[in-house]
Amino acid sequence: MKAWLCTTLDGIGAMKWQDVATAEPQAGQVRIAVKAASLNFPDLLIVEGKYQFKPALPFVPGGEFSGVVEAVGEGVSHVKPGDHVAAVGSTGGFATHACVPASSVLPLPAGFPFDDAAAFAFTYGTSHHALVDRAALQAGETVLVLGAAGGVGTAAVQIAKAAGARVIAAVSSDEKAAMCRSIGADATINYSTETLRDALKSLTDGKGPDVVYDPVGGEYAEQAFRSIAWRGRYLVIGFAAGGAIPALPLNLALLKGASIVGVFWGDFVRREPKNFARGLAQLMQWYGEGKVKPVIDCRLPMTELPAAYARMGTRRVLGKVVMLNP
Ligand SMILES: NC(=O)c1ccc[n+]([C@@H]2O[C@H](COP(=O)([O-])OP(=O)(O)OC[C@H]3O[C@@H](n4cnc5c(N)ncnc54)[C@H](OP(=O)(O)O)[C@@H]3O)[C@@H](O)[C@H]2O)c1
Repeated sequence: MKAWLCTTLDGIGAMKWQDVATAEPQAGQVRIAVKAASLNFPDLLIVEGKYQFKPALPFVPGGEFSGVVEAVGEGVSHVKPGDHVAAVGSTGGFATHACVPASSVLPLPAGFPFDDAAAFAFTYGTSHHALVDRAALQAGETVLVLGAAGGVGTAAVQIAKAAGARVIAAVSSDEKAAMCRSIGADATINYSTETLRDALKSLTDGKGPDVVYDPVGGEYAEQAFRSIAWRGRYLVIGFAAGGAIPALPLNLALLKGASIVGVFWGDFVRREPKNFARGLAQLMQWYGEGKVKPVIDCRLPMTELPAAYARMGTRRVLGKVVMLNP
């Protein structure tokens, strides 16, 4: 098998596509012939030792992928060789093959394409857990999605629409705004050219959004929280903007009767597998009804992973980049 092996924490530039020994699945493991793997922001951080989860070196990055089961270890019964599956975890996907814990392997319904499956459980799972579970989003409420053209952002736009909400998508370019409108956003804000707070005031008649979905952080966090509606829920998803972690004045939470709600999908799946399965079932149903579908920016051969990293690192991705094996 071949894999993008991370042997130092010097980033994608220091990594090589190289031969590695094909692992035999141990008890409780599954070996998957990887067909497709998508890039998530944590993949950028993990190869520089900047992600909260720090795997031992050497490791293969790639936390969200799909493929065909090749072999299963002792005790694995929910999948068998030949099954089409998706896998979610923290590592392993940027390779031709991956050996992963059976608990991270999800059987795919017949006909579910590998590229969509590689951009679904983690990306849509995060946004569903955030909006539906943590924020208890109600039909008719208004949701502000920051970084709305990114991976979890596009998923959040579609999920909020599927839940009957009004969506304001905030992004850094007119091209990204147009894409967000094409997937259902009711209104857009280009925060490179408009002041977020003023635009939100005019788009919500001064009331503010009921829910803020924030995977960006940085300078927009406080502006968004200052704008939130009475009883609003501010979802802390991530800090793609980099720099200092934003701090919010707590008097704003008091004045708005608002909540700051943390979202940690990985631990949610580990701690609450039944709730995760329930959410995934709803997402699968929405996928079947055409209400949610990954926006695929581009499909690249697995060998071109550095180009995918460069595209994400320079904010050029609209939706998801998916890497494919022949
Ligand atoms: N809490 C959880 O459980 C969980 C799960 C999954 C992901 N996350 C987090 O969610 C965030 C987004 O992940 P993703 O995979 O959706 O990433 P992504 O596709 O790259 O989207 C991130 C978006 O952030 C915006 N952004 C603003 N400043 C940026 C900068 N300096 N560099 C890069 N992007 C910047 C970009 O939109 P504009 O150009 O429009 O500003 C970009 O589209 C990450 O922080 C990730 O760690 C958290």
